[in-house]
Amino acid sequence: MRDAQLTINRSALLHNLRQVKLAAPHAKVLAMVKADAYGHGALVVADTLSPHVDALGVAFLEEALALRMAGIRCPIAILEGVFSADELAAALSAQCYLVVHQPEQIGLLQDYRGDLDTRVWLKIDSGMHRLGFSPQAAIDAYQQLNALAVVKEIILTSHFACADDLQSAKTRQQITVFEQLAQALPILSKSIANSAGILAWPETHYQWVRPGIMLYGSSPFADKTASELNLQPVMTLSSRLIAIQQIKTGESVGYGSTWQATQDTRLGVVAMGYGDGYPRHIGRDTCVLINGQRAAIVGRVSMDMMTVDITHISAERGDAVVLWGEDLTADEIAASANTISYELFCQATTRAERFVV
Ligand SMILES: Cc1ncc(COP(=O)(O)O)c(C=O)c1O
Repeated sequence: MRDAQLTINRSALLHNLRQVKLAAPHAKVLAMVKADAYGHGALVVADTLSPHVDALGVAFLEEALALRMAGIRCPIAILEGVFSADELAAALSAQCYLVVHQPEQIGLLQDYRGDLDTRVWLKIDSGMHRLGFSPQAAIDAYQQLNALAVVKEIILTSHFACADDLQSAKTRQQITVFEQLAQALPILSKSIANSAGILAWPETHYQWVRPGIMLYGSSPFADKTASELNLQPVMTLSSRLIAIQQIKTGESVGYGSTWQATQDTRLGVVAMGYGDGYPRHIGRDTCVLINGQRAAIVGRVSMDMMTVDITHISAERGDAVVLWGEDLTADEIAASANTISYELFCQATTRAERFVV
């Protein structure tokens, strides 16, 4: 069997949740488990976190229903809300909280004739310009929602565009818009903080925080590492050296012959490639870890394999190779691939065998 593994560490997940609670001790926690818990496996993450959080966050109804079918009892908020009467009925039956971000969704609630109720997260566009009512429209939306029996509480919510950039004026502007609107409404609960907000903007914790990436052990900031934030990686992607080659100076390696040996080189072949979710486009000198030593990836990453320079390290066929995890973070690989660890996690396919520890 091919020895490519994706390991999820539950205690790291709980450690990271503790960091959320240390940073925002008075806020309730809505833990983001959308997109299969950022690729970590929604069920295992929900199962681990749900006894310790106040709600889970998913993007759309089917993600919520899958968790309910698997027996998760914790409240679940549907971030994009529902888009039809059938979806509304299913969401209410599944005891989901609903984000309401456009008039059609208020219409669905007004047309609802059943006797279930829910908490509605009224989403306002405080400046990101993706989803949400304008602050002017939100007052009317609030009044319409507040008149409905199906709505038992309204939580005012919005989302930061630039909270990871401490120099950006945008976050201050968004906070001002959000707070001005909150003052104009008899609202008790507010929520805006994602991971960056939790760690860098304590004045925005309000009643609910919504951590995502920090739960998974990555840093939301480009200039601070996860370990500086006392976060632990939850996902480890690993494999093994399946072959070793000795190549001579001047010989090239891999598709397109893009890399040429400038000296006689001992080459390790790792059973992991872009077919497993490892990024194909990585920067020069991107490394893997073998026996705690760094080895640079040379030549193109192919679908099932990659080649690494092991000339100067002790490595043998069969040795374990860490692609990302402890001591080689997904943030580091993501930066080298010109992306963010969110994307790497979400792209990790089900091809690697999954383990939970
Ligand atoms: C509405 C909302 N809140 C919170 C989060 C969590 O963000 P992060 O993973 O940066 O903590 C997300 C993630 O995209 C989101 O869409």
